[in-house]
Amino acid sequence: MATSRSGHRVAVLGAGKMGGILLQALLKERLLSPATTCATVAHPERVQALADRLKIGVGTDNLAAARKADIIFICVKPQVVVEVAREIGAQITPRQLIISVAASVPTGLIEGTLKGNIPVIRAMPNTPSIVESGMTALCKGKFADDTHVQLACSLFNVVGRTVVVDEKHMDAVTGLSASGPAFIYIILESLAEAGVKVGLPRDISTLLAAQTVMGAAKVVLETGDHPALLKDAVTTPAGCTIDGILELEEGKLRVTLIKAVVKAAQRAKELAFAT
Ligand SMILES: NC(=O)c1ccc[n+]([C@@H]2O[C@H](COP(=O)([O-])OP(=O)(O)OC[C@H]3O[C@@H](n4cnc5c(N)ncnc54)[C@H](OP(=O)(O)O)[C@@H]3O)[C@@H](O)[C@H]2O)c1
Repeated sequence: MATSRSGHRVAVLGAGKMGGILLQALLKERLLSPATTCATVAHPERVQALADRLKIGVGTDNLAAARKADIIFICVKPQVVVEVAREIGAQITPRQLIISVAASVPTGLIEGTLKGNIPVIRAMPNTPSIVESGMTALCKGKFADDTHVQLACSLFNVVGRTVVVDEKHMDAVTGLSASGPAFIYIILESLAEAGVKVGLPRDISTLLAAQTVMGAAKVVLETGDHPALLKDAVTTPAGCTIDGILELEEGKLRVTLIKAVVKAAQRAKELAFAT
């Protein structure tokens, strides 16, 4: 079998939203080759459409897909991870690498289900990966080494930035950067509505809001300056911005966002064990 540009045969078990985004990006960047990449879904009726869209082998047999892969992405919902790990466990060897993107599921639970010192990386990407502006945090299980971490990072680097963290921080990451895009879309939607309220056409208003959010984020990333300092630079004494900031403070935007991340992170702790 021919290998991909990265030299690895890859199986994505559970090619839904996140699995599909990763597959699409890695195939587009030619890090994976269609001939050595395969995926699974639960519903047989989804198989053909996905195979046609991605031009890879797609099926519903996790064991068959995993058996011929060097790297196995587990991209099913947290509650299904153990079931999938049980299904493939007997055929997985320590020469393969498991990368789970499931929220909440500890590496120890996957290792315990697979048995046999299998290297496991736990990753938490986010949906902006679809436009290669994703943020992925990764940690390693007890049988994975730095080479496995580097390999996983090299794959996720294709869809954005990566950071390696201790596993104890993964639920916090889930609450911040994995759930975060949804919070930002609400802020964006609200800013766009505000533009409409002050008389802007909706399309222009949405453009102004989105480019402003992206620009502000880019300044933080590129300068490394504290956001408070950057905010002060926009806020002219007795100008317009300070009046807007007073409204934000009165509406408790800060504390609301903090509580949103805290709640999402708390939920991430229990998701794998929920029914
Ligand atoms: N969405 C996000 O923003 C995000 C971000 C970071 C991490 N994640 C993680 O990514 C995982 C998937 O989330 P998602 O949003 O991509 O969900 P999703 O769109 O529902 O995808 C789940 C996929 O798993 C498939 N599936 C279900 N049971 C299966 C089985 N037994 N064997 C093989 N495939 C099976 C489903 O097949 P069908 O299509 O046939 O139903 C579907 O394609 C979750 O663990 C989540 O925590 C998601």
